[in-house]
Amino acid sequence: MGRRPPGFPSAFWLATFLAASSNATPILFGPELIQLVDSNLKALPSNVASLFSPESSQPPNAITSRCKIYPGDPAWPSDETWAQLNELTDNRLLVKPQPQATVCYNGPQYDPSKCAQLTAKWSSSYIHFPDPIEMMSPVAQGMTCLPPNIFDSHNCTRGGFPMYVINATTPKHIQLGVNFARNTGVRLVVKNTGHDFLGKSGGADSLSIWTHYFKDITYIENFVDKKIGYSGPAFKAGAGVQALEIYKAASEKGRTVVGGEGETVGIFGGYIQGGGHSPLTSLYGTGSDQVLSFEVVTANGKFVTANSTSYPDLFWALRGGGGSTFGVVTSVTVKAHPEMQTTAARFSFTSEKVGNETFWAGIRAYVDSFVTNADAGTYAYFMLIPNVSTGIFTFNMSPFFAPNKTLEETQTLLEPWFTRLNELGIEFNPNISHFDSVYEAWKSSFPLESVEKINATTGSRLFPRANFETERKRDELFQNIRQSSENNRVQVHFNIKAVDPANADNSVNPAWRQNILFSQQAVRWPVNGTAEETLKIRKEFQTGDMQRWRNISPGAGSYLAEADRLEPNFGQAFWGSNYPRLLKLKAKWDPYDVFFATTSVGSERWKVESVDGLPNENGKLCRVQ
Ligand SMILES: Cc1cc2nc3c(=O)[nH]c(=O)nc-3n(C[C@H](O)[C@H](O)[C@H](O)COP(=O)(O)OP(=O)(O)OC[C@H]3O[C@@H](n4cnc5c(N)ncnc54)[C@H](O)[C@@H]3O)c2cc1C
Ligand SMILES: *[C@@H]1O[C@H](CO)[C@@H](O)[C@H](O)[C@H]1NC(C)=O
Ligand SMILES: *[C@@H]1O[C@H](CO)[C@@H](O)[C@H](O)[C@H]1NC(C)=O
Ligand SMILES: *[C@@H]1O[C@H](CO)[C@@H](O)[C@H](O)[C@H]1NC(C)=O
Ligand SMILES: *[C@@H]1O[C@H](CO)[C@@H](O)[C@H](O)[C@H]1NC(C)=O
Ligand SMILES: *[C@@H]1O[C@H](CO)[C@@H](O)[C@H](O)[C@H]1NC(C)=O
Ligand SMILES: *[C@@H]1O[C@H](CO)[C@@H](O)[C@H](O)[C@H]1NC(C)=O
Ligand SMILES: *[C@@H]1O[C@H](CO)[C@@H](O)[C@H](O)[C@H]1NC(C)=O
Ligand SMILES: *[C@@H]1O[C@H](CO)[C@@H](O)[C@H](O)[C@H]1NC(C)=O
Ligand SMILES: *[C@@H]1O[C@H](CO)[C@@H](O)[C@H](O)[C@H]1NC(C)=O
Repeated sequence: MGRRPPGFPSAFWLATFLAASSNATPILFGPELIQLVDSNLKALPSNVASLFSPESSQPPNAITSRCKIYPGDPAWPSDETWAQLNELTDNRLLVKPQPQATVCYNGPQYDPSKCAQLTAKWSSSYIHFPDPIEMMSPVAQGMTCLPPNIFDSHNCTRGGFPMYVINATTPKHIQLGVNFARNTGVRLVVKNTGHDFLGKSGGADSLSIWTHYFKDITYIENFVDKKIGYSGPAFKAGAGVQALEIYKAASEKGRTVVGGEGETVGIFGGYIQGGGHSPLTSLYGTGSDQVLSFEVVTANGKFVTANSTSYPDLFWALRGGGGSTFGVVTSVTVKAHPEMQTTAARFSFTSEKVGNETFWAGIRAYVDSFVTNADAGTYAYFMLIPNVSTGIFTFNMSPFFAPNKTLEETQTLLEPWFTRLNELGIEFNPNISHFDSVYEAWKSSFPLESVEKINATTGSRLFPRANFETERKRDELFQNIRQSSENNRVQVHFNIKAVDPANADNSVNPAWRQNILFSQQAVRWPVNGTAEETLKIRKEFQTGDMQRWRNISPGAGSYLAEADRLEPNFGQAFWGSNYPRLLKLKAKWDPYDVFFATTSVGSERWKVESVDGLPNENGKLCRVQ
């Protein structure tokens, strides 16, 4: 059962609780009943009210300016106007929330002991997701305020951080923010947890809508949608619900849901709108494939349900088209699946004792198992880590995850590869453990990952089945992976498939449907280099190692949430044949580009003119001429 949200009258709560406990169509959460109504604006003079009103037939004036509206522009709202927004949003407007590392720099908030504490925990997502502005990618933020022992920003500035944040808890707050941005031309961003690797949850001098406190969860015994062809258990969860919260709630009902591996990822914000892969994806498809319904505030300021019969085109676009593009979601209803036994294995080996050729023969042998393992419903998350100073390569399986499989079944799957590793004399000591539930297996198999990389970016490729069909194709793929390691790329791979058992008709990248190996490689640069040097290295990564990966997988794609801002032709890469329809729906649902995020659908019309010329959020968002 959901919890009663703080500050809401119990009558709302009771209504939600009763309806959600029955088999009826789920109704809105208590906070979702609070929507913008005419009377909210009635007391205001009409010229002020018009800044907060839903879309009228008149296009907003600001659509003619070259850039969004910024401080210093005559059209920038006055302090009184911002105060009006604050009042209308129940005093939930945060004005210039300080970057956390402000405590590390000269100024009234300088506090060396706080700075030391912050520095020690900086790479933990727990420092960043509860903050109204922090983004987990400082590279995309513009590197303007980090703890100096991590990176000396010299002069802590706001950089790519927003200027105002609505700490939203109701659709009304979001509707007011969306209307205000559309009517004034101020840049709008949406932050949930800030996990986005590309910086899509920030933007300099913008107004941000922060969805973190949409935390309700309700279990629905039997959700029926005849059009989708689903009849079964479901969860309705607020947009701010994170992986560990929904997994715990599901486990209490003897269920599992499809979500990301990282415990702090916002499953019902960016993850689920962008596709989303999961330890359960080889069994049930992507995160987007699970969605039965969204509640969403659209660019015109309306709060609507998007499901199979209510705005089905918006429903299609929201399931894979990416966050911050078609609206601000307040809650999502997803399929729930039965709990299952799970077997998970963790192990690693290096080239140190056996040498390069034997090490790589061990990796090559693994490539032969990818199709079988993905088709068996398993998930493997592994890394290939080069060390230039020692010349040693490390393979790290973290973990091999086999939902619904016994220990014996899992051992049988791994046996051909393990036999080969033993023949090669590679020591690897696998810890293979059986768990009664996906939840227990997940909790003990996925360590918290570090965030806030200061000199790295990752590019990715969805390698299709075609890359594994013949010995020659497997050799070719293997050689390209080895080459990347020899070029000092840290690599992260997911051996998964994302077939869609329910045949959901949605906008998920069709390249996922062919996927056998989702591969990422990182480019790093000297953190103290000039912008020109950094840009050169980043471009060479795209024309070099990334291009090699594209060349051997023609027509395949990349995953929009784990990708490089410099991915060329990103519309094709992230959405393939769905891109033209997504562009049409963007024009229909957001004709004035109220929503923008870099590399999102339709974003090629705009560019952040960053102050250092690097691909980051520290600059004005302007039209591409
Ligand atoms: C440590 C870590 C582990 C990860 N693990 C996985 C994984 O296992 N599988 C996987 O597929 N991905 C994974 N990711 C990538 C993750 O899916 C993306 O970063 C995703 O965008 C996170 O969504 P969020 O809402 O938490 O983040 P945010 O950065 O807050 O938002 C991401 C994007 O979605 C938009 N958005 C957020 N909420 C809303 C909303 N309510 N309405 C409209 N737009 C919204 C934002 O504007 C932004 O564009 C991981 C990332 C990290 C850093
Ligand atoms: C630091 O940043 C502030 C605000 O942008 C600016 O006014 C000041 O000139 C900067 N100082 C230095 C030394 O760069
Ligand atoms: C945001 O709102 C939540 C819920 O009301 C509250 O607990 C939290 O303290 C607020 N955060 C900030 C920074 O205002
Ligand atoms: C879809 O949403 C509409 C409008 O809220 C609602 O009437 C309908 O019952 C919903 N469909 C399902 C299957 O829940
Ligand atoms: C490379 O190996 C050396 C020696 O073992 C170690 O000190 C260093 O941290 C390693 N570098 C990386 C990037 O792992
Ligand atoms: C293994 O390969 C790496 C990278 O190509 C190289 O630096 C190293 O010297 C090689 N090690 C041995 C033992 O040949
Ligand atoms: C899990 O295993 C059982 C028994 O083999 C099987 O009936 C069921 O279909 C499996 N579930 C999934 C989702 O594959
Ligand atoms: C093996 O993994 C299990 C589950 O993660 C853990 O409890 C156990 O301590 C591990 N055993 C060893 C020897 O590392
Ligand atoms: C990249 O960052 C890491 C971690 O801070 C650092 O050890 C490394 O030296 C940096 N690389 C370069 C080339 O600056
Ligand atoms: C980057 O410059 C800072 C001084 O600004 C220095 O302390 C640090 O060691 C340098 N880092 C690298 C990787 O060169």
